[in-house]
Amino acid sequence: MLSTAFDTDVVVIGGGGHVGLPLAVVLAHRGASVSIYDVSEEAVKLVNDGVLPFDEPGAGPLLQEVISDGRLRASTDPSVVAHAENVVVVIGTPVDEHLNPDPHAIPRALQAASEHFRDGQLLVLRSTVYPGVTRLVERLVADLGKDIDVTFCPERIAEGRAMVELYALPQIVASRTQRGQDRAAALFSRLTDNLVFVTPEEAELAKLFTNTWRYIKFATANQFYMMANDRGLDFERIRAAITHDYPRAADMPGAGFAAGPCLFKDTMQLAAFDNNQFALGHAAMLINEGLPLYIVDRLERRLPLAEMTVGILGMAFKGGSDDIRSSLSYKLRRILAFKAREVLTTDPVVTVDPDLLPLQEVLERSDLLVIGAPHEQYRTLRTDKPVVDIWNLLGAGVRV
Ligand SMILES: NC(=O)c1ccc[n+]([C@@H]2O[C@H](COP(=O)([O-])OP(=O)(O)OC[C@H]3O[C@@H](n4cnc5c(N)ncnc54)[C@H](O)[C@@H]3O)[C@@H](O)[C@H]2O)c1
Repeated sequence: MLSTAFDTDVVVIGGGGHVGLPLAVVLAHRGASVSIYDVSEEAVKLVNDGVLPFDEPGAGPLLQEVISDGRLRASTDPSVVAHAENVVVVIGTPVDEHLNPDPHAIPRALQAASEHFRDGQLLVLRSTVYPGVTRLVERLVADLGKDIDVTFCPERIAEGRAMVELYALPQIVASRTQRGQDRAAALFSRLTDNLVFVTPEEAELAKLFTNTWRYIKFATANQFYMMANDRGLDFERIRAAITHDYPRAADMPGAGFAAGPCLFKDTMQLAAFDNNQFALGHAAMLINEGLPLYIVDRLERRLPLAEMTVGILGMAFKGGSDDIRSSLSYKLRRILAFKAREVLTTDPVVTVDPDLLPLQEVLERSDLLVIGAPHEQYRTLRTDKPVVDIWNLLGAGVRV
């Protein structure tokens, strides 16, 4: 049947990235022959050397295993696409500097590789897309005159938990045709039996609603935090009282920087889709993106910031991560660079920022410390300098 025409089970376009690579690794580990097509020469070289281009707990040993036994290869040559029965697309879909989504990012990437598409392939869109992109890709494929099944199966893992969640999370599968649905179901049943079938339009919104829901929850907690803090109250004491043996509020998050490569931009994608009338989404953006400004404003009222050296501990977008994309620690650094005498930064995991200093140097040279990312390493921090800790990592409260 179809599969005999191809010598590779899966190609992951964008497979050198944060979600494409873990997927490629687990599919290979479950017995599939997998190739990666990625435009990043650096990522491709590292992957072929069995080295992760970024930190993802548990993925390193599996990557080495599947590379050394020949089940996974990476390439910058798009012709590898022609060899694979299943073509999974998981390139980045950021919003631009004016917060506009780019619905053509995926079609553009596919167009560029289109000469390598073949009859009988299954195309799986896995990036988070602007609603309507699946339909756009269906038209593109039809215009190519190829017999290719198009599906949208969004990735829902969180960075840092990929190797657990790729097997544990249900998989949303969406296709306009029964054959497309059956083939995508067969592909993902290598990872889980827990499949959910919806239409492409439902799946596109399902993914955006998922991330936006989380972003709004963080914004709610951050607004509660600011409200309490403005009245001299410690939000963590209030949250502890609310959540104590009270299941209906058990999922209330603490305050903290809510950022990163997904939640913010996907809320903005949804806002654009809703003709910029998404009041709740925009409000969440103002609150979450405003938190660094709020903190600096509070500090400025109490302290002679202009005479102080401030150290930011943790530059990643979240605790335990080495990913600095859209990290609010950098926004905090920008604001403090304007207000304080000097700003020093450190992070135990981030490797891509040449300005980072060793923790000890930052502790010694700073007059004031702000925890930017709640890395576990800071839980045992010992210092006599004042520490702003909106995460309550040190257990001493979150008042600023
Ligand atoms: N990061 C997450 O936690 C997460 C979780 C779920 C879903 N997603 C979604 O997955 C998608 C990818 O996100 P990411 O964080 O892995 O991005 P990423 O930037 O880490 O990875 C994207 C990869 O695609 C490659 N690429 C870009 N254009 C290409 C092209 N035309 N052809 C081939 N390769 C190309 C890049 O070199 C990069 O290696 C996004 O839509 C994102 O919203 C991300």
